[in-house]
Amino acid sequence: MMRYVFTLAVLAPTMAIDNGLALTPPMGWNSWNQFGCNVSESLILSQAQAMVDTGLAALGYEYVNIDDCWQAQERDTNGRLQADTTRFPNGISYVATTLHDMGLKLGIYSDVGKKTCQGYPGSHGSYDVDAETLASWGVDFLKFDTCSLTFEERRDPRDDYTAMSTALNTTGRPILYSICNWGKHDPWLWAPNISNMWRTTMDIYPQYARVMSIVDAQNGLAEYAGPGHWNDPDMVEVGVESTIFNWKHMPATNITQRESMAHFSLWSILSAPIILGLDLTSAPAWALDIVSNAEVLAVSQDPLGATGVSVAEATTGVMVGGVCTTGACSHTQVFLKELAGGAFAAVLINRGGKYDQDDAHFVPETIRLDLSTIGEGSGLFAVRDLWTGEDLGVFEGEFATPEGVEPHAAVMVRLTPL
Ligand code: GLA
Repeated sequence: MMRYVFTLAVLAPTMAIDNGLALTPPMGWNSWNQFGCNVSESLILSQAQAMVDTGLAALGYEYVNIDDCWQAQERDTNGRLQADTTRFPNGISYVATTLHDMGLKLGIYSDVGKKTCQGYPGSHGSYDVDAETLASWGVDFLKFDTCSLTFEERRDPRDDYTAMSTALNTTGRPILYSICNWGKHDPWLWAPNISNMWRTTMDIYPQYARVMSIVDAQNGLAEYAGPGHWNDPDMVEVGVESTIFNWKHMPATNITQRESMAHFSLWSILSAPIILGLDLTSAPAWALDIVSNAEVLAVSQDPLGATGVSVAEATTGVMVGGVCTTGACSHTQVFLKELAGGAFAAVLINRGGKYDQDDAHFVPETIRLDLSTIGEGSGLFAVRDLWTGEDLGVFEGEFATPEGVEPHAAVMVRLTPL
């Protein structure tokens, strides 16, 4: 019988940057999607405190990442990056020490080119000194962007990214290396050798259609990821109140609670880094509940380190640009991820129309997963709903969602072989 093979990530040698980090997808928070350039010491420390107070830190969230705009406009007289003294009056090392005392880690942002995306000094030509500076401050994570290299010079950046990887290794400090070159130049082919994660697409923003287009862009990439090196479909938009690309003039496009559950289910099954974007100090309870679901996070953090893949997708009717143009349409999809110990996780999503979850053209759908082709055991699986925490029973041959799944919603289950 034809069986799905999910062993690539396990068999592939671990080739990542030599820092021993990210054996499971990194978990943390980043300032960009909610706060844009409004970063400061007080913002970062208050988000860190909230990470502890909300219980997220105890669940494994650890990186608190300052994105763009922390820098002064100019390097110092020794050619070193320096923080903006108004935003960070005590410097970055103070923030790092404070986070470390809280049991957390500090992430920071720079750019492989001469300027960051917001026009601050980039690291081009200064990779060694910048790696040293970050290490001396106690930084634990570097997001390395790609503005003003591919735009101005339009060339393959892999040598530059490799130079920074070498520079980080040379410091001797384990610094998680997160490459952010938007999926250009097929980073999954070369970044696993030199980094812990690499962006696979342009920026996410809090809109369901954008989230799903990024999911589609992950097709075919599972085999490149594994412990120490991960595909990065960008940050988690659950609870983020923001705009397209964080451009102030654009309208907010926030995602709903059920879209957020689908998004978080997919990031977990795709073994994406779980880097939250919402304001942790004022997060609504529903958003915190989603990102705190320990059983869903256990799928993300499963030690086998496989990446889930789409195993079934079905559409009916005619959709143009994600809008149904016939009387009724449906669009369902099933993702499957192998877990340690022979178990599996599945996400069964009713994708509906791209833009309107309550569109009359889309209705709740029963979604089915063929169990006959997975696993090596008896073919019997105990199925548990990870969002409701309900044991749904023992299934053989096929699992069908007990109820219709609403458009833009997902059911996520764990399948334990018996
Ligand atoms: C790029 C990145 C974003 C963010 C901004 C900051 O667009 O892709 O994630 O870091 O730059 O300027």
